[in-house]
Amino acid sequence: MEIINRRQRMSSVARKIRREQDRTVGLVPTMGALHEGHLSLVREARRMCDVVVVSVFVNPTQFGPGEDFEHYPRDLTKDTALLTDYNVDYIFAPTVEEMYPKGFSTYVNVEGLSEQLEGASRPGHFRGVATVVTILLNTVRPDFAFFGQKDAQQALVIRRLVKDLAFDTEIVILPIVREDTGLAISSRNLYLNADEQASAAVIHRALVQAKSAYKDGERSASRLADIVRSTIESEPRARLDYVAIADAETLDPLERIDERPTLLAVAAYIGKTRLIDNTILNKVKKKEPAPQ
Ligand code: PAJ
Repeated sequence: MEIINRRQRMSSVARKIRREQDRTVGLVPTMGALHEGHLSLVREARRMCDVVVVSVFVNPTQFGPGEDFEHYPRDLTKDTALLTDYNVDYIFAPTVEEMYPKGFSTYVNVEGLSEQLEGASRPGHFRGVATVVTILLNTVRPDFAFFGQKDAQQALVIRRLVKDLAFDTEIVILPIVREDTGLAISSRNLYLNADEQASAAVIHRALVQAKSAYKDGERSASRLADIVRSTIESEPRARLDYVAIADAETLDPLERIDERPTLLAVAAYIGKTRLIDNTILNKVKKKEPAPQ
């Protein structure tokens, strides 16, 4: 395994693999502090691709003022050890100056999809994400890039970006990995103390309760949102930021749930830590064979 810090070295290594060896390249973009969620992406990349590149870069442009950019957990030594165990070929770990050199002035904005939910709470967040993902895709030019459903809106923004700007990369989205308590695994869970860890399970519990009401026939978005809200409010350490019920493709808000795949997404504070989670209602089922 090689750790690469330079954009130029990363692109020339990737170009060589594609040209001379005709092997498929998979990219797993991360901000490090790797956990089982990230590793599920790495495992799938390893299974699908000949060469696996994991990028580790805490991207300043996707953090707003007053957010946790400075405090975001960083431990490249530990991340390197984990990725060695997973047989990763290259870690791309550039500095901020390398990714955003002096004079940098081009940003990518995926309109529409970037403004709701996380975008409303974190203005500019998806502009930062789309910009850094563009740089990563252009540097590595992977055949496949792997992302988690944990960040459902991010996954939509990136799919849109790749389609609109004609990137030659297939985007693979993988399911949310959870703790035994149901808490979606996140690097930010490291901010939680033991009491908060226990409280944080309320977020998933709220989603499960709304989903079960939906399965029992509830189709009103506002009533489902109320279930999420009241469950989260029942936990003293938790404070709801938003609950959203939206078309899972366009993020258009829904009043009633119909047959469309529907995203039920939540952001909540546990103490000072902001966490997100989601689930899909009406997931598209694999097509049944036509009756004979
Ligand atoms: P980061 O939060 O480090 O996450 C990297 C990838 O891991 C994302 O695609 C995210 O959705 C996925 N992931 C995180 N927790 C997961 C979980 N519990 N289950 C499944 N997948 C999970 O997302 C980012 O970094 C950044 O925005 C990035 C795309 C790297 C751009 O800077």
